Amino acid sequence: LVNYLVKPWLLLPSETAHEIGKKALKIYSGLCSQKTPEWHPLHWRGLHFKNPFGISGGVDKDCEYISDWWRLGVGFLEVGTVTPLPQPGNAGKVIDRNNSQRAVWNRMGFPSKGLEYSLKKLRTLPIERPTPVFANVGKNAATPLEKASLDYIECIQRLHPFVDAFVINISSPNTQGLRELLREDKLKAFLEPLFGTIVKTSKPSMPLLLKLSPDMDEAALKAALDISFEAGIAGWILTNTSVSLREGLTFPPEGGVSGLPLQAQSRQCLKWAVEHLGERKKDRLLISSGGIMSAEEALLRLEMGADLIQAYSALIFEGPMFFCRLADRMKGLSPPPESASWL
Ligand SMILES: Cc1cc2nc3c(=O)[nH]c(=O)nc-3n(C[C@H](O)[C@H](O)[C@H](O)COP(=O)(O)O)c2cc1C
Repeated sequence: LVNYLVKPWLLLPSETAHEIGKKALKIYSGLCSQKTPEWHPLHWRGLHFKNPFGISGGVDKDCEYISDWWRLGVGFLEVGTVTPLPQPGNAGKVIDRNNSQRAVWNRMGFPSKGLEYSLKKLRTLPIERPTPVFANVGKNAATPLEKASLDYIECIQRLHPFVDAFVINISSPNTQGLRELLREDKLKAFLEPLFGTIVKTSKPSMPLLLKLSPDMDEAALKAALDISFEAGIAGWILTNTSVSLREGLTFPPEGGVSGLPLQAQSRQCLKWAVEHLGERKKDRLLISSGGIMSAEEALLRLEMGADLIQAYSALIFEGPMFFCRLADRMKGLSPPPESASWL
């Protein structure tokens, strides 16, 4: 009962809470307006992260709340998924949650106001920014898989002056066929034109990161790491939502599950990646995402080898003050580890 008094949005249906949450964000950030908390800082390829904890892809799909998230204490932002053209996403029920299991289910399918809208928002940001901003990009549902690269290229060409890195999202389970691009026989051919594009821009060394799926088995994950490593991917986000994990949950069979049930799978993927990359990792970036719902779990992922960490579901259960509260908890949990510097 106390939990519901402190977090009344947990009594609302998920879709209503989601809509109200966006409005409440402005109010909370207005109350907060604090500087980015400093803990476990990181310098990476010319970017400075005052703390390693950011919002995951999908939280701010259309780049509308960036300065609010800055006030709420994030160490970096991943905005998007942005698609070239506006699209509504999937019809019907697209989000649900299970409070007792701290689980979230979604089948949103990239609802996006499109590239032009995000560009307009990004243009209004100050040149001096408190944190790095990554753009997560995807393909429109109507674009055939064989032409998917073209959608990613368009996003890179238009957005690159305004962001610090791109996250290539081919791991969402909610766009038909998208995950096929992660397969060994398709990944190289998909990625190569993206690198061809970036080298021709005004930021030829702009990092491209790849977001991976938790549903890949060990062999598939390692193959994707190897192929993308060779192609020049600067880092990986492990992981997106899972199409499995339905035990004890009444979510529909389609769509992806995140939150606490994803924790073990996400940890496992991070462990495989750290072990498999070994010495090769050097200045590549590992970002852990999936079931990070507490300061203890955040620290564990950093200790396991993640450079940065992210949350989405924790915001649904804990609210937007999560990042500030977690930063306070960090002070009590451990002295800030030394800043890793790979400049
Ligand atoms: C409602 C919802 C929408 C999401 N939308 C996106 C998206 O647009 N792009 C993306 O890359 N990931 C998306 N995700 C996945 C998250 O970025 C994250 O990888 C996943 O939820 C696991 O982290 P978590 O357990 O902290 O939620 C979404 C997740 C949720 C719950």
